[in-house]
Amino acid sequence: MDVSALAWWCGLVLGAIPLLLQALWYLNDAFFLASLRLRPTANNGMQGRTKLPPGHMGLPFLGETLTFLWYFKILRRPDGFIEAKKQRYGEGVRMYRTHLFGSPTILTCSPASNKFVLNSAEDFRIHWPEPELVGFSSLVNVEGKQHARLKSFVVKAINQPQALRQIAHTVQPRVISALRSWAEKGTINAVLETKKVTFENICKLFVSMDPSPVTDAIDQWFEGLVKGLRAYPINFPGSAVHHALKCRRKLTAVFREELEKRKGRKNGIHENSDLMDGLMQIKDEEGKQLTDDEVVDNIVTLVVGGYQSTALASMWALYHISKSPEVLHKLREENRIISKEKKGVFITLDHISQMKYTAKVVEETIRLANIAPTLFRVANRDVEYGGYRIPKDWQVVVWIRSLHTDPMNFDNPLSFNPDRWNQPAKPGTFQVFGWGHRICAGNMLARIQLTIILHHLALGYKWELLDPDAKMTYLPHQRPVDGAAMAFSAL
Ligand code: HEM
Repeated sequence: MDVSALAWWCGLVLGAIPLLLQALWYLNDAFFLASLRLRPTANNGMQGRTKLPPGHMGLPFLGETLTFLWYFKILRRPDGFIEAKKQRYGEGVRMYRTHLFGSPTILTCSPASNKFVLNSAEDFRIHWPEPELVGFSSLVNVEGKQHARLKSFVVKAINQPQALRQIAHTVQPRVISALRSWAEKGTINAVLETKKVTFENICKLFVSMDPSPVTDAIDQWFEGLVKGLRAYPINFPGSAVHHALKCRRKLTAVFREELEKRKGRKNGIHENSDLMDGLMQIKDEEGKQLTDDEVVDNIVTLVVGGYQSTALASMWALYHISKSPEVLHKLREENRIISKEKKGVFITLDHISQMKYTAKVVEETIRLANIAPTLFRVANRDVEYGGYRIPKDWQVVVWIRSLHTDPMNFDNPLSFNPDRWNQPAKPGTFQVFGWGHRICAGNMLARIQLTIILHHLALGYKWELLDPDAKMTYLPHQRPVDGAAMAFSAL
């Protein structure tokens, strides 16, 4: 080939590559915009209107999942993903289009747009790729009247004063003995230890089980189940979902057996003994009770909802307080005063309601922990918000984390400052427990458990992080990579 032909070919290739890359860059956007225009009958009177929120659909098939992983795993800046969008496309109504985890997606991240999605049960539904994993008759899997009915049962059983009074009493022996054992060890991995004590308490509260090889197996099955819920939704032998389904069936079997045992009990169901008894006997206004499937599915759901969340919140309380001596000082002061009023070693719900500073520490811990950073919905139909279209069947990711780390909502948002709760948060900016009809069914239970552990910690112990600058990991949950290793001792 002569020199001029070579130069011609080089020019062509070098010119074509950027063009090809650019085409690839816009291909996903073009594909989804075109498919929306071609939809035969877009409903809600939106025929032909394709004004999607600003954003970018990423690469074909992958979408922006790699960019998401880049911010969360490599840069360790989870807020960077949304910040970059705000900078690039403007704040507007804080809704962006993207393509995440295999689905075309609308992200929402303002108090108003989040509330719009979370409040509308008719327009947005929960979608579980593998509904058996969460349980067909679990309250997280059903909608409408069925959901409202189950939710009222569950809230009555775990989140209202009468139940919480009993729960506050039941959880304290294990908290007290766990703290004692941590002090004996001298050094602990707070992630593991808070998980252990939370799980023991859950087994006691929900099914009156004390630690045994059976509860160890149950713990393993829950671990497998939760991994499957977070995994890529493909089910084949060896996959996380496949394993999770096996775990789910074992959990169903073990709780079903327990339920049958209780039904056969001579002296019937014990009043107020544990959550399973509670769910078995609660009646709605028409005098109807839950079916056996509903009891079992919702016990499993409540363990999944309440286990890791409460454990992580307890670990974060230990973490932040160890870095804030003045917070610990104020906590000790308040809890010593309360302690003088109590009879014996346990505090009651009445004491807890007087613990104003401790309550601020709890709110601040939960705000910064961002245990559920994003919530997922699917649009039931084409919906319009702020002049933009949320297309039917698209995934909607409600990015609640960004509200809690936004300086517009919270001054110096990444600092741990319980005193910020001297004033309530700006309306709609605190969505840690979700919003609307699906708001967390165990929000008071979580707060009470955290208050109880703080009370006993503040009265009797001191602790110090071994590596206060340990790196963070953000997936599947935000936590220090060293498990918040700490020196722990009695005062
Ligand atoms: C700090 C601890 C906790 C946090 C941050 C938290 C957060 C949340 C959030 C954000 C939601 C809304 C999910 C959505 O809209 O898709 C939710 C729902 C739920 N949570 Fe929690 N949660 C916590 C503790 C608990 C506890 C202790 C329990 C029970 C033992 C629990 C049980 C549930 C249940 C059953 C739902 C589903 C409610 C429904 O679909 O109506 N959570 N939680």
